[in-house]
Amino acid sequence: MTATPVNLTGYTPIELRDKEFEQISRWVYDIAGIRLSDNKKALVTSRLGSRLRELRLTSFHQYLDIIANHKHPLSVTERQKALNLLTTNETFFFREIAHFDFIREVILPLKQGRKLRCWSAASSTGEEAYSLAMELATHHSGLWEIIGTDINVEVIERASKGVYPLTRIDHIPTAMLHQYCLKGAGAKAGTFKIKQELRRHVHFSQANLQQPPESLGSFDLVFLRNVMIYFDLQSKTHVVENVLRHLKPGGHLLIGHAESLNGISDKLTLIRPSVYIAG
Ligand SMILES: C[S@@+](CC[C@H](N)C(=O)[O-])C[C@H]1O[C@@H](n2cnc3c(N)ncnc32)[C@H](O)[C@@H]1O
Repeated sequence: MTATPVNLTGYTPIELRDKEFEQISRWVYDIAGIRLSDNKKALVTSRLGSRLRELRLTSFHQYLDIIANHKHPLSVTERQKALNLLTTNETFFFREIAHFDFIREVILPLKQGRKLRCWSAASSTGEEAYSLAMELATHHSGLWEIIGTDINVEVIERASKGVYPLTRIDHIPTAMLHQYCLKGAGAKAGTFKIKQELRRHVHFSQANLQQPPESLGSFDLVFLRNVMIYFDLQSKTHVVENVLRHLKPGGHLLIGHAESLNGISDKLTLIRPSVYIAG
C-alpha cells in the first residue's frame, strides 16, 4: 500500500515544483531577507496554496507570473499578500519576561523624567509593544512613545486595533490587566481591548527592516526579537546596520534569547545575555 498524505482540506493540493520553490525562496529573500530552507516547502505549499485557490490559479508558475512580473496589474498587492502569508508571526504578551524586568529595574531608573522613544522593530500583532507600554505607563515618570513596525501589513492592522482573544491574557500581570485592558461584551465577548490611554502612545506602521524609512527617527530602546532567526548572516548584518542608524548613542538593543549578534557589529556592547548598548 502506498502512503498518501492525509489532506483534511478536501482540496487536491497544487504541486509546488522544486524550481518554483527556489524562485519563491529567492524572491522572499531578495525582498525581506528571509531564508526559506528546503524543509519549508510543505509550509509554502500550504500557505500559498489557499491563496492560489482564491485566485482560481492552477499552478505556482501562474502565481510567480503575478508576483515576479512588475507590470502585472496585481503584482503590488499580491506581493504584499504573499509576504503576509510567508512570514511567521508567533508572539505573546510579556514574551521573554527578563527583558521587561531589565527595563523596569535598570533602564527606567537611568531615564527618570526624560522622554523615551522605543521601537518594536518586528512587532507582529503588537503584543510586544503593548507589554512595553504597560511597563512604561506603570513605571516611567517622563513622556514616552512606542513605534511598532512589521513587514506584514495584516499584523500591523491587527496591532493598531489592539483587540485580542481572551485566551491571550495569560502572561499579563493581573494588576496591568485590570488597569489597561477592557473586556469585550455582547458581540465582542471573548475578546479584550487595550485601553486608549495606552494606545495613544503606541503607533504602528509597515516597514521592512531591510530598508526602514529614515522618518522613523531615533530611539532610546529597540526590540529586535525573534526575527533574526529567519535571516542568514548577510541579511542579519544588513538589518543590524539599519537598526543601529536609528539607535541613539547609549541606547539599548534587545534581541531574542535564542539569537546572537556575535561578530555582527563592533558598534554594540553586550551588557547581559541578549541585551546590547550602542557605543
Ligand atoms: C516571530 S515574530 C516576532 C514578534 C515579536 N518581536 C516577538 O518576539 O514576539 C517575527 C516577525 O518578524 C516579521 N518580519 C520578518 N521579516 C521582516 C522584515 N524583513 N522586516 C520587518 N519585519 C519582518 C514577521 O512578519 C513577524 O511578524
